[in-house]
Amino acid sequence: MSFRPTAYVEDVSPGSGALPPRAHASSDAPSLSLNGSWRFRLSDTADAEDDSFAAEGYDAGDWAEVTVPGHWVLQGHGSPVYTNHLYPFPVDPPRVPTENPTGDHLRVFDLPADWPAGGGAVLRFDGVESCARVWLNGTELGDFKGSRLPHEFAVGPLLKPAGNVLAVRVHQWSAGSYLEDQDQWWLPGIFRDVTLLHRPADGVRDFFVHASYDHVSGTGTLRVDSDVPGRVTVPDLGVDVATGEPVTVPVEPWTAETPRLYDGVLATAGERVRLRIGFRTVAVADGLIKVNGRPVLFKGVNRHEWHPQRGRALDPETMREDVLLMKRHNINAVRTSHYPPHPAFLDLCDEYGLWVIDECDLETHGFTEQGWRDNPVDDDRWTPALLDRAARMVERDKNHPSVVIWSLGNEAGTGRGLTAMAEWIHGRDPSRPVHYEGDPDCRDTDLYSRMYASHAEVERIGRGLDGGPRRRRALPFILCEYAHAMGNGPGGLADYQRLFERHDRLQGGFVWEWIDHGIAHPELGYAYGGDFGEELHDGNFVCDGLLFPDRRPSPGLIEYQKVIEPVVLTGDGTAGTVRVANGYDFADLSALAFSWSYEVEGEPVDSGTLSVPALAPGESAEVKLPAVPAGAPAGEAHWTVRARLAADTPWAPRDHVVAWGQIPASARPVPHVAATARPAAGDGVLTLGPAEFDARTGAPRTICGVPVTGLRLDVWRATTDNDDGAAWQSDLRFGLLWRELGLHRMRHRLDAVEPGEDALTVRTRVAPAARELGLSTVYRWTSDGDRLRLTVSTVPDGDWTVPLPRLGIRFGLPAADRVRWYGGGPGEAYPDTRTAARIGRWQSTVDELQTPYVRPQENGARIDVRWAELGGLRIEGDPAFFLTARRWTTEQLDAAAHRTDLVPGPTVWVNLDHGQHGIGSQSCGPAPLPRYHLRAEPAEFSFVFSPTDNGSPTSL
Ligand code: GAL
Repeated sequence: MSFRPTAYVEDVSPGSGALPPRAHASSDAPSLSLNGSWRFRLSDTADAEDDSFAAEGYDAGDWAEVTVPGHWVLQGHGSPVYTNHLYPFPVDPPRVPTENPTGDHLRVFDLPADWPAGGGAVLRFDGVESCARVWLNGTELGDFKGSRLPHEFAVGPLLKPAGNVLAVRVHQWSAGSYLEDQDQWWLPGIFRDVTLLHRPADGVRDFFVHASYDHVSGTGTLRVDSDVPGRVTVPDLGVDVATGEPVTVPVEPWTAETPRLYDGVLATAGERVRLRIGFRTVAVADGLIKVNGRPVLFKGVNRHEWHPQRGRALDPETMREDVLLMKRHNINAVRTSHYPPHPAFLDLCDEYGLWVIDECDLETHGFTEQGWRDNPVDDDRWTPALLDRAARMVERDKNHPSVVIWSLGNEAGTGRGLTAMAEWIHGRDPSRPVHYEGDPDCRDTDLYSRMYASHAEVERIGRGLDGGPRRRRALPFILCEYAHAMGNGPGGLADYQRLFERHDRLQGGFVWEWIDHGIAHPELGYAYGGDFGEELHDGNFVCDGLLFPDRRPSPGLIEYQKVIEPVVLTGDGTAGTVRVANGYDFADLSALAFSWSYEVEGEPVDSGTLSVPALAPGESAEVKLPAVPAGAPAGEAHWTVRARLAADTPWAPRDHVVAWGQIPASARPVPHVAATARPAAGDGVLTLGPAEFDARTGAPRTICGVPVTGLRLDVWRATTDNDDGAAWQSDLRFGLLWRELGLHRMRHRLDAVEPGEDALTVRTRVAPAARELGLSTVYRWTSDGDRLRLTVSTVPDGDWTVPLPRLGIRFGLPAADRVRWYGGGPGEAYPDTRTAARIGRWQSTVDELQTPYVRPQENGARIDVRWAELGGLRIEGDPAFFLTARRWTTEQLDAAAHRTDLVPGPTVWVNLDHGQHGIGSQSCGPAPLPRYHLRAEPAEFSFVFSPTDNGSPTSL
């Protein structure tokens, strides 16, 4: 028998046999979940033959089993493939490869005993990637494409009380794959719920809840349109009206900050459907996106559905966890990149309060490789499929108050198909603006949206100086993606936020992205592109989230949380006041309780509550701080002011810190060591105060009795994803320049070891092979007999045009576990990711200081460290420094591809840095702003060493 490709797989049409789309609903009609264990058989091709498995009585006893919802490639059958925008098959639309993994799924089920006799039934698939053909009891129901969209089939007459055979053939590749070229793993399977729904006679079919809010009168107008007439009741509002009939009543509006939902019921003769009604009005007016008459500022994230074991098959707990994590980190908006999410996620957004840009399942990015030639989005043959996708999204999700904007899709070029989608959406739902980023002319959209624009460009847009077509100039602006959170970073968030806050037209942005799509792997920790032997892949570009794959917040999320705090607490310590600014768009501050604490050297001396007026959104006030507590010890002091939840909320308990600010109260005394000790020569050894040096090299051997190895200047860091930059970046990519220059293989030439009257001076020149550039570096050691001071002076020679990765010293200690420090913490911070670093007293362990980026890279620096204690040494900085300590060298970190490549050695390597280069976001976006560059220029910095068991660790 010759191979015959199955026609429907390569057909541009959306499929056949499925029912028209309708609103997602929960009702009192019975339903039966068909999730669970299914019989499964994988074939290599999408052969049209052998659909005998769909017949009743087929014996699938020797088949494997898979869990539905799930992806078979994550359940031991075949393997996942990751590409960013390249199609992993030849581009010849709508044809797909002969090698087309095809999963036959079988499930036999009985109807529950109380399944109603009358009425009909529909079978619903909430998501199948990428194309399915369905049979029930041997009868073919149809086929469909549109992976992250629902499809329903009428099955009433086919059902039997027992032994129903549901057969589903799923193809990994189909014509639909051309429309689903999102940057993510290709993961075939029935990955969302399968449900049988009873459809009572006179049950509700489709319904549309129109619930607007008039902020002038404080009233809401409700009208529920329904295909099948019925009555709408909302007990809390005393509403009882017929479908189709508007009613206006005083209501509390729905906003993401105040997600007031009213429970209601839509009752027809046959069914009662639950309504959760949020009254709000979205409009683009005066060039701004307004909700309930007020402009909103999106503090958003792009959320792909991800679970490290289950891929895009998300369980309800994981969805809730996402929402709770977002709320607790001050995030107020989600773009459902790049497809409609599981329907339950939108219920959670309604309930907890998040603004949603609901994005259609459409991306044809791979066509960019051929200058967008043959792009389905500009080819009328594909328009029905595009319209089908638009309709399936809008009809399913139209009743969610959280959905405030529809998005046509992502990176699909431009074309008539997009225009058709936009026209259809505008017609069907004029109550929401339409978004699409890929058309610079904004022909079809109601807002101007961009991704990864630089700060400078965003500022020009904010000022209205960006020019462009007239239509676009009048539109509000969002960054639908920015701040690429790949690896260490993103840097520059605070600088973007300042721009958003300064210019009305800039209505915020959505960080790319929420979570790393690492796949849990027994040997690698988390796998990324290439780890499954893919012939084409984009490596760890799939791990670019604010959460690690296991949903632990990365430092990027902690930074973002601080940058987007809804309350801004500032002061300079001179006025005795704190400035409290309410940054909410709708809520006053009455839900928050404020407190102060006065800290000397990071230790709280006294604390109390602060009375702050219930400022309205946008208002601010100077609030008086108390007098400095009597008897407070001398030393550097800060006021720390916190805004906490005054009561439990659905998303966080009482006392959860929503915002904080730190106000300097008195400056830090500079550590001083009198140079009274004299270097003394011994047998190959020089002694100075508590330290011994190698007399030949001038390198310290022990400091305060602690053996110290390899102490020297260090300029290299294991480049971050953002240092390396994306391959397509046309701007300078610092990681590459640094390696080209040889900064990862600096040589240290010893020029002189000079024991003097009151100091040991060691002169060196630090430079890479093959270059004339170098750093003349002098180490000057002094001591008062007990403590040892090292002053490092570096002067660049030659024409340094490139900033340094880092500048400081590194050395090895034989053992260190606990680490204590006074300075920025508790987490990692770099010059442009430092907003969340709070000055305080912190402790950790060397292992806990590491940030577990999926691809190892520079991480874990603590900023503004005044002093640190580890491995028996106390180190004070003049000025404050960056502290890093790890059980492997920078070179080992640099060479590692996965966390599991990092094997702890016997030495703890400590870096004390005077400076670090900024982080930026060049793994997709802009490099660090020039003000965060670590320029090669003359520098001098000191460290004072003393033993930790000697004297109080609090005294400087
Ligand atoms: C954007 C795209 C995203 C993702 C991101 C980089 O261009 O819309 O899907 O690829 O870049 O991580």
